[in-house]
Amino acid sequence: MKALCWQGVNELSVEQVPDPAILNAQDAIVKVTASTTCGSDLHLLGGYIPAMRAGDVIGHEFIGEIVDVGPEVSRHRPGDRVVVCSIIGCGRCWACRHDEWSLCENSNPKPGVTDLMWGGTTAGIFGYSHAMGGFRGSHAEYIRVPFVDYNAFTVPEGVSDLDALFASDAAPTGWMGAELGGVRPGDVVAVWGCGGVGQMAARAALLLGAERVIAIDRYPERLAMAARHVGCEVIDYTSTDVTAELRERTGGRGPDVCVEAVGMEADSTGIQRVYDGIKQQLRLEQDRPIAVREAIHACRKGGSVFVLGVFAGFVDKFPLGALMNKGLTLRGAQQHGQRYIPKLLDLIAKGDLKPSYLATHTMTLDEGPKGYDMFKHKKDGCVRAVFRPWA
Ligand SMILES: NC(=O)c1ccc[n+]([C@@H]2O[C@H](COP(=O)([O-])OP(=O)(O)OC[C@H]3O[C@@H](n4cnc5c(N)ncnc54)[C@H](O)[C@@H]3O)[C@@H](O)[C@H]2O)c1
Ligand SMILES: [Zn+2]
Ligand SMILES: [Zn+2]
Repeated sequence: MKALCWQGVNELSVEQVPDPAILNAQDAIVKVTASTTCGSDLHLLGGYIPAMRAGDVIGHEFIGEIVDVGPEVSRHRPGDRVVVCSIIGCGRCWACRHDEWSLCENSNPKPGVTDLMWGGTTAGIFGYSHAMGGFRGSHAEYIRVPFVDYNAFTVPEGVSDLDALFASDAAPTGWMGAELGGVRPGDVVAVWGCGGVGQMAARAALLLGAERVIAIDRYPERLAMAARHVGCEVIDYTSTDVTAELRERTGGRGPDVCVEAVGMEADSTGIQRVYDGIKQQLRLEQDRPIAVREAIHACRKGGSVFVLGVFAGFVDKFPLGALMNKGLTLRGAQQHGQRYIPKLLDLIAKGDLKPSYLATHTMTLDEGPKGYDMFKHKKDGCVRAVFRPWA
């Protein structure tokens, strides 16, 4: 079958790879009908995630049709149209039973690398390096889905492919940031980053009752999209001091909840981008935590900061003093999609959430390298490129 493969830093190619097969009794094979780019893939492309190997199939946000199931699969049958969570849960371990699916203790068969660095490991993640299990990704004609009973969700009739697609990763990630960030009715929420994840977090905050949501980015088309489709206020971080502007807009207090949806490749117009960029290149720190620092600084006293952006390791100039003295709560996680996907599909079916607008560009799998070039460099207003292998 055809698949989009990582070949090295900033190098992708479309290759023929062996078809996937059922390996375990709870597996299914899914024919991928749509698979989209995610900001997390940019960290793979940039070479910031360790344990990638040339030829690895990338992609983790997808929908498709089940074409084959193992003997112990009970909830799905061939023919089901499903959205699959980007992160793999086993459904039975302590973490999965406590609804903390991205912390699954069984689905990552290669926990060594991350266990050493973090003192624990995440669940397996499709197409996201050998440190996250070495699973083949979804930018392919077919994919093997382990523990399919727990990780695939039947898409209700009437919900379009492109709306269901984002219930795999961007929408549940955003929902988790708002919910575990502790958004309550009447709150003012600030969201750093207007990519797919930031926009979904902003929308979730409004649906959870936030009175105002303020989204921050530098790209005019992304800011305009967030204002129009999410219904939030926006700030262009290149034209103002974000912390001062947030104070100004919140009666001097700062936002109640700050959601960081930027991650390890954050940008800035100031000295931090140069400082962190050099340290990152020299491997003196793994990540550029520019938006995390700003969120901690801007947050109101006693408020909470949720880190959705992906970080790999150690960072420098972390404002621990602000965190401690301002009485902040700081949390982060890879997404616990299985907890949110049924609810999100419901919201989509009712029309309260319509993430398909994020799909600014739809193309064939052969155009994968071009799609990533557009997505990475934000060409032609690209927010998400969607590959449809069978269209
Ligand atoms: N926690 C999870 O499970 C999970 C799931 C999906 C994605 N992610 C992560 O979420 C992050 C966002 O993903 P995405 O798909 O929206 O990516 P994206 O690349 O499309 O968007 C990131 C946005 O952040 C903006 N940005 C950069 N520096 C900024 C700053 N200083 N202040 C404000 N905005 C800034 C960029 O301009 C860009 O629009 C990535 O780090 C990704 O890895 C995490
Ligand atoms: Zn993702
Ligand atoms: Zn588990």
